[in-house]
Amino acid sequence: MTHFALKNGVLHAESVALPTLAEQFGTPAYVYSRAALTESLREFKDVLGGHPAGSGALVCYAVKANSNLAILNLFARLGAGFDIVSGGELQRVLAAGADPQKVVFSGVGKTAAEMKLALDAGIFCFNIESIPELERLNEVAGQCGKAAPISLRVNPNVDPKTHPYISTGLKEAKFGVAYDDALPLYRRAAALPHIQIAGIDCHIGSQLLDPSPFVEALDRILALIDQLASDGIRIHHLDLGGGLGIKYKADQVQPTVASYLTPLLDKLQDRGLQVVLEPGRRLVGNAGLLLTRIEYLKEGEGKNFAVIDAAMNDLMRPALYEAWHDINPVVPSAGTARDYDVVGPVCETGDFLGQARPLCVQPGDLLAVMSAGAYGMAMASNYNTRPRAVEIMVDGDQVHVIRQRETVAQLYAGEQVLPA
Ligand code: LLP
Repeated sequence: MTHFALKNGVLHAESVALPTLAEQFGTPAYVYSRAALTESLREFKDVLGGHPAGSGALVCYAVKANSNLAILNLFARLGAGFDIVSGGELQRVLAAGADPQKVVFSGVGKTAAEMKLALDAGIFCFNIESIPELERLNEVAGQCGKAAPISLRVNPNVDPKTHPYISTGLKEAKFGVAYDDALPLYRRAAALPHIQIAGIDCHIGSQLLDPSPFVEALDRILALIDQLASDGIRIHHLDLGGGLGIKYKADQVQPTVASYLTPLLDKLQDRGLQVVLEPGRRLVGNAGLLLTRIEYLKEGEGKNFAVIDAAMNDLMRPALYEAWHDINPVVPSAGTARDYDVVGPVCETGDFLGQARPLCVQPGDLLAVMSAGAYGMAMASNYNTRPRAVEIMVDGDQVHVIRQRETVAQLYAGEQVLPA
């Protein structure tokens, strides 16, 4: 169910009216629903828990989607693990109370320092993406007197049929190792003294609304696991990455977690593999919105603009991927709608959050940019010296500031003018 809904003509987050938040904390503001976050994780747990092949499964939330400590801490309390891609994300999850034994470390460019940090923390697994990375990890683990648990991230070369910038499992992508190279690479890994083969990993892309490519990828990975077994290399866990999509338009239908996972789990019956998943967007995307106020309505040549106080620096997705986010008035009014390009104050033509949106609005009105919980704040920047927005968690009728609005002074605190 949605936890952002109209009540008495006013858009609410759970029991809290959004205009109240705007008055108290200002705009732009990211607003999250605790119930929505909890429910989205529970959907995974229910499906996994209800299937024999899902027992002992680990849901490792992909921190990159939204790394706010409160969100990480909430997921940690609910038993989730984490998929991290940097030493920074490792420090964040540890600060948020994560169990290091439930942390997987992905990414093509892990530094020796990051490897050491993760070895010291005692993470569950390193997802290895190349031979030089494997050899470096072997060396670092040797220096630490440890054996590093690894998976190889294998590129199953399936087309996820999503935006090219977020397709990652094709053979021309920078990610993972080629399918045909996996066997010799596992043999190499098995021969390294400070490497311990734990699993196999793949991640084919993001925002998949059709779950069939996941099945295709799994078939390829299972064939590889069988080849490895006949080579005497035993795989304990199978990490299927993230990628399950969400609806970005009110009239879209999103695949259920069950429709995505059940066919996969069915194929895993009796294999004795621990399932690991790395969902990001699906856990947080529809649990957050970006609340913004209209500064001006501007009549252009053949186009109208609603100039808002949020911009591409707050939510990059429309500028970067031409991504669609529904934009809804917080207090919808009856009247004739006009088409507006909803734009921010940043000095770029690409600074829009929506184009040609039919809206019936006045200057000063509040708008909610929906489905902004994933890759929203996490990708925000300070372009144009714009402090990043406040983040607020609503829990029933309770309101918690989970990150204060940045100040301009914070933005240049680390800068220094040259000596006179
Ligand atoms: N695991 C790995 C190795 C990944 O690279 C990603 C996302 C995930 C898990 C989580 O994928 P998800 O479940 O969120 O689809 N900024 C883009 C999305 C980039 C995704 C990058 N990798 C966007 O705003 O659409």
